[in-house]
Amino acid sequence: MKKVHSVRRRWKSVVCGMIRWSAWFLGQALPLSTRRALVASVGRRKPRGGFEFAMGMLNDLRRRDPVSLHRFLWANHLAYAESYEVSKRFGTRNINPTRLLLFDNITTHLRSRGLDPRKDIHSVFEIGCSMGYLLRHLEEEVFPSASILNGLDIDAYAVQAGSAHLSSLGSRVKLFSADMESAERIMGRQSYDLVLCCGVLMYVNESTAQKVVRAMLSRAAHLVGVICLASPGGDLERSQVRRSDGAFIHKMDRLIHRAGGRVVSSNWIGASASVRSSCHVILAEPPLPARRGPSVSSPACRPHIKTIGGV
Ligand SMILES: C[S@@+](CC[C@H](N)C(=O)[O-])C[C@H]1O[C@@H](n2cnc3c(N)ncnc32)[C@H](O)[C@@H]1O
Repeated sequence: MKKVHSVRRRWKSVVCGMIRWSAWFLGQALPLSTRRALVASVGRRKPRGGFEFAMGMLNDLRRRDPVSLHRFLWANHLAYAESYEVSKRFGTRNINPTRLLLFDNITTHLRSRGLDPRKDIHSVFEIGCSMGYLLRHLEEEVFPSASILNGLDIDAYAVQAGSAHLSSLGSRVKLFSADMESAERIMGRQSYDLVLCCGVLMYVNESTAQKVVRAMLSRAAHLVGVICLASPGGDLERSQVRRSDGAFIHKMDRLIHRAGGRVVSSNWIGASASVRSSCHVILAEPPLPARRGPSVSSPACRPHIKTIGGV
């Protein structure tokens, strides 16, 4: 059985390599603008191998400017974004086990601080929330007293489809279409009990990741939760770009320390059938003054949420 799996995996990687190489070869003669239009047009049909096709066609962009590549793909719901559909993402059984581990770590930590997750958590903000399925899970299963569950994402299609689904369920989750670079502005000036960012910072370079981590820590009243890529080959000196897809592997503990936060826990999770790439599941506490700051769920802060709603 193991042998069959390994042959199948090898065969799949040969096919993927062939699609990527053919797309790269075809793309040689075309200017970048034409190749982007082609990737968008092919991507809309959601063919198998769409990710490899995009990576081959935009190979030069991946090498030269991976941040632009990721922005283009996510903002247009292409390549890796294509599997983000309501039917495939909502519901506990569809949630990646690393996210469930993060939520377990959060509730355990809150209890250790004398807080009851089901009663004492009133507001959550998620950066890179896609369709809002994690926020919905938190609303239903983990923090039923939360009245504010907001998130932002660059994928306008995901935000729109997720918002429509959430409002059909009568959910309190609210999603905004925005780049994480503007996280601070979208979050407003108040603090949220928890600020989360799972599987997202890999799409921006070190300086933007640092900016986002600062924004998260400055707006978190209790905790920040991050899931980020981990280096398969041990610790890093600084952020690195993964060759296969131009994703960034950050030295997250350093970004957190630099922003004045304290790492509470960090679990390394190796790649497996259910976890595509090795990652870190990290909990961090904000600097003390922020922890004492007013939460966005306090009545005095509510009017500002209306402003956020207009973004
Ligand atoms: C791998 S998905 C993770 C989604 C969700 N957080 C989860 O854990 O399942 C990455 C998400 O980050 C979003 N994203 C990528 N670049 C972004 C950016 N520059 N600003 C905001 N969101 C971004 C994508 O649109 C996508 O929804």
